[in-house]
Amino acid sequence: MRRGKPLAVALVALAVAGFTIADDDEHRYKRPKRLAVPADAPQIWKDECASCHMLYSPGLLPAEAWRRQMDTLNDHYGSNASLEPEEEREIRAFLLRASARNHLPVEPAKTAGEPPRISQTRWFEHKHDEVSAAKFRRESVGGRANCVACHRDAERGDFDEDRVKIPR
Ligand code: HEC
Ligand code: HEC
Repeated sequence: MRRGKPLAVALVALAVAGFTIADDDEHRYKRPKRLAVPADAPQIWKDECASCHMLYSPGLLPAEAWRRQMDTLNDHYGSNASLEPEEEREIRAFLLRASARNHLPVEPAKTAGEPPRISQTRWFEHKHDEVSAAKFRRESVGGRANCVACHRDAERGDFDEDRVKIPR
């Protein structure tokens, strides 16, 4: 019986530590600087990675997820987004460097064979638990991955909830 107490104390300590880590993850994303596009972002990245869709700030995915994106550009969500080797190297180096602070685990896309998606992570779900599927489906929105429809300055990495506006 006497042994029970230290165990209980240890469990409480563990629970507290676990909570602190989770809470820290939360705050990591609340600080807009971490998602902001670095000022030295190469022009080639802006040109090539925003020709079919909006520009995604590197901080939105962990480095390993970007590595997988860059390894599979010839089959990029059903599109061919391959680049010249020189361009590919420059963009890859930038994405890995600029996402180094994102320590979230890499979560596989729900569709087999696809590279990881920002719009399918638990982090994304958590941030949007009050946004209905119907709103994401609106024609004026264009889907979950089109952040810029609701976050006007998304391409600069600004997702401040005070400036969110869901179009009609
Ligand atoms: C030839 C067109 C094309 C180019 C160029 C392109 N993409 Fe994509 N990308 C797509 C398509 C198509 C999708 C899937 C869109 C969807 O299903 O809504 C996509 C999706 C993505 C997603 C996942 C979005 C989500 O759902 O969270 C990321 C991240 C991404 N692209 C990054 C990049 C990067 C980085 C580059 C530059 C190296 C790039 N893309 C260049 C066509 C392209
Ligand atoms: C249909 C419109 C819509 C789209 C599309 C959308 N969001 Fe959001 N987002 C919202 C709303 C609304 C909130 C505020 C949610 C709340 O307060 O419950 C939000 C909140 C957030 C937050 C939290 C902001 C804060 O201050 O805590 C982040 C980060 C975020 N979104 C990122 C993204 C990213 C990244 C994408 C694209 C991959 C995206 N969003 C696409 C509507 C959208």
